[in-house]
Amino acid sequence: MAKIPEEVIETVRTATNIADVVGQYVQLKKSGKNLFGLCPFHEEKTPSFSVTEDKQIFHCFSCGRGGNVFKFLMELEHISFPEAVVKVADFSHVDLASEYRQDAAAPAVDSKTGQLIALHEQAAKLYHHILVNTEVGQPALDYLHDRGLTDETIETYQLGFAPSQRLLKPFFDQRQSDYQLLRQSGLFIENADGELRDRFTERVMFPLRNASGHVAAFSGRLLKKADDQPKYLNSPETALFTKSRLLFNFDLARPAIRQAGEVTLFEGYMDVISATQAGVRNGIASMGTSLTTEQIYAIERTTDKLNVCYDGDEPGQRAIERALSLLGQHSHLQLSVIQLPEGQDPDEYRKAHGNEAFKQMLTTAKETPIRFQLRYLRRNRALDTDSERLDYLNQAMPLLAQVQEPVELDMYLKQLATEFQLDKDALVAQLKQVQRDTAAQQERQRPRQQQAAPVPAASPAVTVHQQQRPLTRLERAEQGLLYRLLHDRNVWAQVTAMPDFSFVHDDYQIIYTLAQGYFQTHQTYVTAQFTDFIQEDRLQQLVIMLETKSYAAVTPREIDDYLAVIMDEAPIEEQLRLKKNQLTEASRLGDAEQQRQLVVEIVQLERQRQANKQV
Ligand code: UTP
Ligand code: MN
Repeated sequence: MAKIPEEVIETVRTATNIADVVGQYVQLKKSGKNLFGLCPFHEEKTPSFSVTEDKQIFHCFSCGRGGNVFKFLMELEHISFPEAVVKVADFSHVDLASEYRQDAAAPAVDSKTGQLIALHEQAAKLYHHILVNTEVGQPALDYLHDRGLTDETIETYQLGFAPSQRLLKPFFDQRQSDYQLLRQSGLFIENADGELRDRFTERVMFPLRNASGHVAAFSGRLLKKADDQPKYLNSPETALFTKSRLLFNFDLARPAIRQAGEVTLFEGYMDVISATQAGVRNGIASMGTSLTTEQIYAIERTTDKLNVCYDGDEPGQRAIERALSLLGQHSHLQLSVIQLPEGQDPDEYRKAHGNEAFKQMLTTAKETPIRFQLRYLRRNRALDTDSERLDYLNQAMPLLAQVQEPVELDMYLKQLATEFQLDKDALVAQLKQVQRDTAAQQERQRPRQQQAAPVPAASPAVTVHQQQRPLTRLERAEQGLLYRLLHDRNVWAQVTAMPDFSFVHDDYQIIYTLAQGYFQTHQTYVTAQFTDFIQEDRLQQLVIMLETKSYAAVTPREIDDYLAVIMDEAPIEEQLRLKKNQLTEASRLGDAEQQRQLVVEIVQLERQRQANKQV
């Protein structure tokens, strides 16, 4: 692939707003002149990840990662710089010459993961080809058409068919694929002699893509019912595929989730695909098992509203109950339940009522978690005797006690009062009693519990983590001066005219030296461009960190003050470094006398440095 010239990179960068790209992955909220969200690179509860639009950079105050838009994608999706440029170009609809995009879309084939992904994508192509172009695939294609899927949808999801003939192994043999790689792919079953056979046969194949859109595994659905086999068979866990992490369709759904401001969680792959067919593109599904905290965390970074739309049957309802409780414990997501008619799943509903009715149902059948739970509590209850009714109300009260919104609470109370022909005031009185009891119980438990976590605000408060290490006076001066040097041409002229000036700490000095190269070819300083120029990760992060500090307008004395501190302390710092090295050497040689002497000198220098600091 041809190296992408800097002008092209610049075109891509300037055509893009980093906030739009980051916004695809992280939910950002305005706070002051920055945007804040939960850092996608580590787990956190309060947002310390920021995007500064006027500088076109991101920075996490907690983990220290930072950079421009390319860097963001490189880190998040583990892709190379040219791959990131291609991705951003596509996002911003910048036409890139094809010579720059060859291979860029494909993952690096030299890594093991890259090879496994390539293998999966070839397998997906083969299965898809068999489904749409061959006679063995015809029954499966008929089946999918019969289920109401169009060719376009089949194409979008690269659905396929694995026939009984086990064609995958010969296909890879022909290409002389590596045996170990095939073994590790999970696409085959190995017998006692180490021979590999296709794992999936007689199954409609659903490629499972990871968050970056690469095929990482498959799920195969039996074409014909067979009692001795599971309806859906998933790839085993491999280096590419961790069942508890993957969310079906998350890669394709992400833009729609951001746009709609909400995500709909379905139980099955077919439901998600069916929804897409109806024009609802923000649907995802977990992997058959119940939702995991890892999946919840991935969702929470993208949006703050989640609708649970599981099957209308008993297992589906039980799964909703479980999901709600897990989501309640592990997220701040605003939850709704979409209640389907008894027994139906979303896909069946769409087939029975059509696309428009399906779309409408997704909004009109929305209910609050409490309303769902009130209804869920009623299942299998006849409620035809007073004692059953009382028992139900007793169980309902603790649910109502959780409701914070007075209007919402009033709604439930009215509904219950009407239904059970009770006086609403009596219900209110009973609710108060329950609330008092719960409060008293919590009070009793308090000493044994850890300090209760503060109640999260509706919109998460922005906490900007301070840097862990307090800066020395010297470093403050170095940082201030470096910032001014980069941003102010006059300061640049003044300092570069001093032949013996140098920073004390290597990192600042290296950045300064790199900046000299940068300004030979660039007229003005653009942070998001300079970080690409300096390349090295640690230095990039240092520059980004500087950019997030708010320096006021430069004052006349400021630069001289910085210079004085740096020039004053430079010799002491330099000597200290030297003496400390000598001390290490002396202890290595076991020279006790020399060691004593050096320690005395170091203490003196430290004292002098301390005295400078008091000024
Ligand atoms: P369902 O049995 O509800 O499947 O399982 P479905 O989506 O309605 O499938 P169709 O409509 O019959 O084709 C829901 C989900 O549970 C997982 C799959 O993820 C499926 O999409 N599952 C189910 C399995 O992993 N294995 C199974 O044997 C069955
Ligand atoms: Mn179904």
